[in-house]
Amino acid sequence: MIEFKNVHLSYGTREILKGISLVIEDKKINVILGPSGAGKSTIIKLALGLIKPTSGQVLIDGTDISKFSEVELFPIRRKIAMVFQGNALFDSMTIEENMGFFLRENLRLPDDEIAGKVKEQMKFAGLEGLEDSLPDALSGGMRKRVAIGRALIFGPKTILLDEPTAGLDPLSAKKILNVIKQLRDETGVGSVMITHIISDIFGVANQVFILYNGEIIFQGPPEEMRTHDHPFIQSFLSAEEEI
Ligand SMILES: Nc1ncnc2c1ncn2[C@@H]1O[C@H](COP(=O)(O)OP(=O)(O)OP(=O)(O)O)[C@@H](O)[C@H]1O
Ligand SMILES: [Mg+2]
Repeated sequence: MIEFKNVHLSYGTREILKGISLVIEDKKINVILGPSGAGKSTIIKLALGLIKPTSGQVLIDGTDISKFSEVELFPIRRKIAMVFQGNALFDSMTIEENMGFFLRENLRLPDDEIAGKVKEQMKFAGLEGLEDSLPDALSGGMRKRVAIGRALIFGPKTILLDEPTAGLDPLSAKKILNVIKQLRDETGVGSVMITHIISDIFGVANQVFILYNGEIIFQGPPEEMRTHDHPFIQSFLSAEEEI
């Protein structure tokens, strides 16, 4: 469980988060929605300890990590994995090498154990046969699935995804959402996904958090957004009708 208690975050004199409190439950698909520059990526960086709050607490399974050192954060990074918006793949490494990278470099597992885990993730991500390809040779959707597979290889219980469907065609986006749903339904791995896309939310998310002007203005299941009269929520939903 990820919990924020009255979290404030300023960059210089600019206050981005103005006292945010939220609870992100395990084994659920959580969506963070909000205008560009609202601080959505900042929230997931705080949850990973990549940045520290100006004040307030960030609790992971009840432990406040807001003052943790890099070394203290190691076990947290095994529990919570991150898929960056640009995937952060290593362009000169094959898909197989990318997948096994952290097992090799961080855990120093024996080669046969790495090979087994990589094979499992390649299969889960639907990437079999692409072991020796370089990232550049893959489509955007496939690269995203490599990034997700690589994040899952540690066996985290939650995966954070920064706009995982941005820039993908509808079919590739659907495949990514299916992976995220499969993780929840079959392996009990929850997710926190930032998105701007309505079809990523309805029928997918269990819980939506809407960040606006430094505050969480809505938190609840997607259907409840329809009865909320905040202009941002209403204009977001009316975009749905135009599709
Ligand atoms: N390291 C930093 N130093 C100063 N300002 C920053 C830093 N990182 C982010 N910001 C600013 O903080 C605000 C929130 O950034 P953040 O990346 O969390 O927004 P976001 O909601 O993810 O936006 P987007 O939808 O564009 O990805 C933005 O105005 C951004 O310019
Ligand atoms: Mg962002």
